[in-house]
Amino acid sequence: MRTSILKKIRAVDTAKNTYLEDVLHGLGRKQKSLPSKYFYDDAGVKLFDEICRLDEYYLYHTELRMLPQISQELSQMISGELDVIEFGAGSLIKIRLLLEHLNGVRHYMPIDIAGNYLRKATSQLRDELNDIKVTPIEADFTNTIKLPDCDDDITRMGFFPGSTIGNFSPTQSAFLLEKFRKSLGGNSWLLVGVDTKKSPSILHRAYNDGAGITAMFNKNLLLRINRELDGTFDIDQFAHYAFYNIQEGRIEMHLVSLTDQKVSVSGVRFSFQRGESIHTENSYKYSPEEFSKLAEFAGWRIKRQWQDENQLFSHHLLYAGL
Ligand code: AVI
Repeated sequence: MRTSILKKIRAVDTAKNTYLEDVLHGLGRKQKSLPSKYFYDDAGVKLFDEICRLDEYYLYHTELRMLPQISQELSQMISGELDVIEFGAGSLIKIRLLLEHLNGVRHYMPIDIAGNYLRKATSQLRDELNDIKVTPIEADFTNTIKLPDCDDDITRMGFFPGSTIGNFSPTQSAFLLEKFRKSLGGNSWLLVGVDTKKSPSILHRAYNDGAGITAMFNKNLLLRINRELDGTFDIDQFAHYAFYNIQEGRIEMHLVSLTDQKVSVSGVRFSFQRGESIHTENSYKYSPEEFSKLAEFAGWRIKRQWQDENQLFSHHLLYAGL
């Protein structure tokens, strides 16, 4: 008992130290930056859920609309018993649409960095899915994760929805897809949701919503630093700024300092000039051809691709075998 509590305290300490190191490192760079994975504390997860309910944020609605049809097709392509592993599971709404039509699912393993939220969402889902074992895994899916209850006779399918892959650079994404392939194993499948390249005005609206929820989501990064790392950010002195960088094919989110100011984090001081920004997120957009190349580079074969009728969003079914 004592050792397990000590282990937990050590794990929390290590996570906090890594968070502090990442923040100090990011704010110490010439172009100040913060890793986007730190958006997702409890407050950030709630704000992201609100973003998903916005009309402007077409990614979520479009993906949801596509999933029932896709899962019906999947059930015809994949036979036998199946374990499903979701990377960055969030609110577990999408997986319900998938599991509704997929046959033979034995075990569902959602992986997410937001542990509290994941456990709550999982206990509700467990009540709904009587026959499927559900094991939540609180982890950063960019790390190598040893999956529990492995059985080589059972096919595995990874699920990576929401265009979360867009929050990594193309090189990081190729490494991530390769990592997923290795942890899922030989004859596995991976279904990935990817936002497509499109008119910059549609993209601009999606990341600059009228109600200002995305701005609050962005600024929560600073509030979280104040709460957890003894930071002194005045969030009214920073403005949300999101734009589509055509050359890079990505939305960039920044927080722009509205004045010359000094801020400290755990006693370390940083100076900001008026107009200077902290780069907080990239959200890459891919044409189906671009994404195919990336997946093939990571050793996957493309089995099937879907796009909605307005070509706003795409899904890609990848296979690790021959
Ligand atoms: C989680 N991720 C795919 C979202 C995106 O669109 O890049 C995060 C987000 N950032 C601003 N709005 C939503």
